[in-house]
Amino acid sequence: MGKIVIAIDGYSGCGKSSTAKAVARDLGYTYIDSGAMYRAATLHFLNRHLSPTNPKDVKSGLQDLEITFQPNPDSGQQETYLNGLNVEKEIRSMRVSERVSDFAKVKEIREELVAQQQRLGRKKGVVMDGRDIGSVVFPDAELKVFMTADLDTRAFRRQQELIERGELVDLEDIKANLGQRDEIDSNRKESPLMKVADAVEIDTSNLTFAEQVAQIVHLAEQRI
Ligand code: C5P
Repeated sequence: MGKIVIAIDGYSGCGKSSTAKAVARDLGYTYIDSGAMYRAATLHFLNRHLSPTNPKDVKSGLQDLEITFQPNPDSGQQETYLNGLNVEKEIRSMRVSERVSDFAKVKEIREELVAQQQRLGRKKGVVMDGRDIGSVVFPDAELKVFMTADLDTRAFRRQQELIERGELVDLEDIKANLGQRDEIDSNRKESPLMKVADAVEIDTSNLTFAEQVAQIVHLAEQRI
């Protein structure tokens, strides 16, 4: 059976990552979390006190930025490594969430990460989620999905996720962060978040997790 590329884009916190992960598992595909790469890059720049608006800082930060994924030996889940260090937990913190969209706006950072993402997807059999996967990273993807959900639902789901990770954050703060990231991601000059014409839109506000996964697997099977 042939393998395809599945691009899943959408607003912050609408369950793209967990859905994409489950779709990849069902199809026996590789899951790649492009947001984790922007988050890891952001952590790298923050740790080095490098500013996204200073071109010298951007250049210097990109010189020693290495992002890789390795499976956790217990869960088998892919985890994110920054220059050899496991940063899976740290990149999901509010400290990173609050700044990631400022770094993701920078052309040079995007160029570097898009090139890495395209290398990772070269062999097909890949599910990648993000903001510009269907528009820029894999414009020829056989299946493009644009996921949405209303802001209250997204904020609640994200709060549950953070609680599971041991971080208790006020719902209003999460809502403000998601809204702010949507705003920056949708209005930036470089590869803004948008629904491309050939993407299938799925509003997950009233879908269970199993339903949203099944819908995408079904769409994929029609294209394999
Ligand atoms: O997917 P996640 O919410 O973890 O992404 C974090 C941030 O990374 C987004 O808000 C966006 O600013 C940036 N991002 C991006 N392009 C992608 C994936 C993520 O700009 N393909």
